[in-house]
Amino acid sequence: MDKLVIKGGRRISGSITASGSKNTSLPIIAATLLTGNGNFTLHRIPDLKDILTFIQLLHHLGVETTFSDNTLRLSSEQVQSLQAPYELVKKMRASIYVLGPLLARFGHARVSLPGGCAFGPRPIDLHLMAMEKLGATITIETGFIEATAENGKLRGGHIVFPISSVGATGNALMAATLAEGTTYISNAAAEPEIETLCRFLMAMGATIRGTGTTELEIDGSNSLKAVEFHNVFDRIEAGTLLAAAAITGGEITVNGVEPEQMKAVLKKFVHAGCTVESTEESISLKSPRKLIPTDVTAKPYPSFPTDMQAQWIALMTQAEGTSHVIDKVYHERFNHIPELNRLGAHIEIHKNQAIVHGPQKLSGTKVMSTDLRASASLVLAGLVAEGTTEVLRVYHLDRGYEKIEVKLNSLGADISREKYNEF
Ligand code: EPU
Repeated sequence: MDKLVIKGGRRISGSITASGSKNTSLPIIAATLLTGNGNFTLHRIPDLKDILTFIQLLHHLGVETTFSDNTLRLSSEQVQSLQAPYELVKKMRASIYVLGPLLARFGHARVSLPGGCAFGPRPIDLHLMAMEKLGATITIETGFIEATAENGKLRGGHIVFPISSVGATGNALMAATLAEGTTYISNAAAEPEIETLCRFLMAMGATIRGTGTTELEIDGSNSLKAVEFHNVFDRIEAGTLLAAAAITGGEITVNGVEPEQMKAVLKKFVHAGCTVESTEESISLKSPRKLIPTDVTAKPYPSFPTDMQAQWIALMTQAEGTSHVIDKVYHERFNHIPELNRLGAHIEIHKNQAIVHGPQKLSGTKVMSTDLRASASLVLAGLVAEGTTEVLRVYHLDRGYEKIEVKLNSLGADISREKYNEF
């Protein structure tokens, strides 16, 4: 296994370009299953573990792909299997994204049930409810979701989500593009990842109204076509890099971004005392001499994202006072806290609230990654900790960050990747 060995105390400063968004790439790649008509060329696809797992899933379905220099080329003409097996779904819950496209195009899909998740229950009931609203019959047998459309064709319907779900909205959208008639989605997720998926589907020939809002209307098409598409930047990677500068007293410019999508996060950096300046495609952050404690509540977009919550807690360990961090999306997403405390942080958990008592001097030790964003928070803490921090089980980090240690080293960090035996 790999671990990251971080020598703390170095400033993160300089300029860097953000990678393509992981959480936009995944539904976009899934959406290519909606048509066998032509070849897709997808640019700015990040070269990271979850993308490679999704490509593996496409191969399993019979799709041929080539992936190099962040460009993914594929054609979904030859889909030979309609089944997503447990071995791949268990590696990545986002595999559920193949459900909507396969069902809509072929009238049938068989997807293994994803299991639990490192940060609490992550049900898929809303994905299934959406498919049923579009006329599918769903059964669960031997650990698989069996979804079938009557006469092989979904039909438009009105889907009302009781809570906002990025994944279920994405699945519903993709399925609706090939359904007969019009579909209405109420309380749709309005995350930039969904907005970009809408743009991608519209480029493929879909008719969607309400893009970027919580009310979507989709007119089903008879067929869609393959396109060339440029993916957007990864707003969570960008936020993590800004936090790396802020926690180490550095100064950074992140290029290739759309600051508009990061308003809630940037506002919090400003509240914490950072100087933040944006152009149309870059964000510059200068850290203050002392960080001001700043509360955040993670909620669906446009609020502060749950995927930045762990990194924010790491940052607040260095603020001059107490801050409160609440996660209203995943109430139990706090696996990073005991590990941050092992580095010397003083953080308490009360229900879905973390109380971070800063500033605390952190000192390096071995810590364990438990999930993607938890790992990112440990890396941030390691950057400011005295001595050497070893972040074990770094495969969690590799799922969602493209060459993170290479990027941070180019900004002044001292991080090496080493092999180790866990037992
Ligand atoms: N939920 C249900 N039922 C469902 C689906 C979701 O109850 O059928 C609940 C979840 O348990 C959660 C809330 O709805 O409490 C929102 O979950 P959502 O469906 O929006 O999450 P997701 O689509 O599974 C995506 C990202 C996550 C990110 C969340 C929230 C991808 C591949 N994953 O997950 O990203 O945290 O949206 O923004 O896009 C990450 O990148 O580290 C990551 C976990």
